[in-house]
Amino acid sequence: MNKTTITFVLGMPVLLALGACSDSGQKETAAPVTSEKAVTAPAPVLYTADRWFSPEQAVRGEALFQKNCAECHKADASGDPNWKQTNAEGKLPPPPLNGTGHAWHHPMPMLQQIVRNGGIPMGGSMPAFKEKLTTEQINDILAWVQSHWPDKIYITWMQINQRKS
Ligand code: HEC
Repeated sequence: MNKTTITFVLGMPVLLALGACSDSGQKETAAPVTSEKAVTAPAPVLYTADRWFSPEQAVRGEALFQKNCAECHKADASGDPNWKQTNAEGKLPPPPLNGTGHAWHHPMPMLQQIVRNGGIPMGGSMPAFKEKLTTEQINDILAWVQSHWPDKIYITWMQINQRKS
C-alpha cells in the first residue's frame, strides 16, 4: 500500500490541501507530506496474517473511530462490559468491537450495513452513519476495528466472509 492510495481514499480535504500548496498539480509528489503525517501515528499491527487492509488504512480509521464511535464503543473498542444485558429501556449497551464480542460473526457487507444504517431500524440504539461517513471512511474504521482482532478471530471471520459474500 502506498501514498497514492492514501491520497485517493482521504478524498476531498487532501486534494484541496494539495491544490492549495502545489501549483504543479503533481499529486504524487505532494502526497507524502500528508501521508507521512498519517503514518507516524503508531500503526496497530499486532498480527501476522494477511489482512484486506493496509496499516495506513487502519491508522486513518483510528482517528475516525475516536471521533464517531468511541463515545459508545470506548476508545479501545472494548465496548460496555455489560454488553450482553439489556438495560432498563430494553436496549443493549454498545458491544465490544475488538474481537472479544461477536462483531466478527458478521461478514463485511453486514458490518458496513450496521454502520451505515445503525441499529435503530432493528430496535437497537446505535445511530446511522450513512449521512456522516463515506463508504471509504466506514471501511477505514472497520480496518482499524479489525486490526484489534487476533489472527485466529480474523481468519474465522474471513471464512464466514467468503461463505456469505
Ligand atoms: C450512541 C452510541 C453508539 C455510537 C456513537 C456507535 N455505536 Fe455501534 N453500537 C451501539 C449499540 C448500542 C450497538 C448494539 C446494537 C444497537 O443497539 O443498535 C452497536 C452495535 C454496533 C455493531 C454491531 C456489533 C455486533 O457485535 O453485532 C458494530 C459493528 C458497530 N456498532 C460499529 C460502530 C461504529 C463503527 C461506530 C462509529 C462509526 C459506532 N458503532 C458508533 C452504539 C453506538
